Amino acid sequence: MPTPAADLEKLKADLAAEIATAGDADAIEKIRVAALGRKGTVTELMKTLGALSPDERRGRGAALNALKDEVAAAIEARAAAIGGAALDRKLASESVDVTLPARPERAGCIHPVSQTIDEVVAILGDIGFTLAEGPDIEDDWYNFTALNIPPDHPARQEHDTFYLPGERSSPGGPARVVLRTHTSPVQIRAMMRAKPPFRIIVPGRTYRCDSDMTHSPMFHQVEGLVIDEATHMGHLKSCLIEFCRAYFGIENLPVRFRASYFPFTEPSAEVDIGCTRADGTLRIGSGDGRARVARDAHDDWLEILGCGMVNPKVLANCGIDPARYQGFAFGMGIERIAMLKYGIPDLRTFYESDLRWLRHYGFAALAQPSLTGGLAP
Ligand code: PHE
Repeated sequence: MPTPAADLEKLKADLAAEIATAGDADAIEKIRVAALGRKGTVTELMKTLGALSPDERRGRGAALNALKDEVAAAIEARAAAIGGAALDRKLASESVDVTLPARPERAGCIHPVSQTIDEVVAILGDIGFTLAEGPDIEDDWYNFTALNIPPDHPARQEHDTFYLPGERSSPGGPARVVLRTHTSPVQIRAMMRAKPPFRIIVPGRTYRCDSDMTHSPMFHQVEGLVIDEATHMGHLKSCLIEFCRAYFGIENLPVRFRASYFPFTEPSAEVDIGCTRADGTLRIGSGDGRARVARDAHDDWLEILGCGMVNPKVLANCGIDPARYQGFAFGMGIERIAMLKYGIPDLRTFYESDLRWLRHYGFAALAQPSLTGGLAP
């Protein structure tokens, strides 16, 4: 029988040679199992320790443990080296040529709703309005009651409101939670938050339980509100005439104010713009696009927004003294004015996320609208 130390030295040398020549992860794993696995050579040798005398066992045991640790360390080092080499090979074979030209990508574009909001903000911003916002989830005090639409008012039904479960506390007491049916509740928030004078515009999402060619359960409006001590109907008219002509890019666009009714304005009006339907297609103005047109060269009217002088009751509901302050408000549908300006026939297509539609009706990302840069597409 060989001396105890000698057989272990030989085994160690054999294993070291095998480990050194192992070429890949599989080979090194085979060596590990053959030496250190449950039936491996080193493991089997460990099992023989039990038959030895305590003295013999101490010396042999220490030598075997040292062997086991050395072999395990050698295997681990070799496995790491093999892994590193494999990674290097992969990196070398998968190198990227950063000098190649970029693949042609179709540029993204701006949705007509965003574009129209930007245009409206650019025009009204130049007239001195600042941007305000309010929450989509409102309660019926802000959305109706404070706007002089009492609980039994027919306008509450006409708005086809989406009610959410529950009530919350509001300045008028507990109020039902609703998705705002118009941007007008932001008038209330603005008037309760700051002291007049102010001029704000509020673009945002609005919700009504309604869906067809010209109605969507979610759509967009822009609200406008001007409050100070001397604002009168003449300011309202000039502001909105100016807006309509700038937005549609038609200098003499016919604009008329037709008496109407909203609970939160008094007097109230609907704004119509002149159009032609002569050859079966609707055209804004006289029909010859952006050229100057004579005031009477149109054959029909199109309603585009609602407006009026803020009802003194609404001012009082917001803690503003109606004897001192007054002003005007207006509201219009973004999709509606986008459809009219850009000839988009169906409202539902705005929300279908069809890329072909977006590429057709969308706008270049860097074509920011401004009065100085030109608003026309
Ligand atoms: N909120 C009204 C609507 O949604 C529009 C409007 C706003 C009318 C402000 C007058 C003043 O129909």
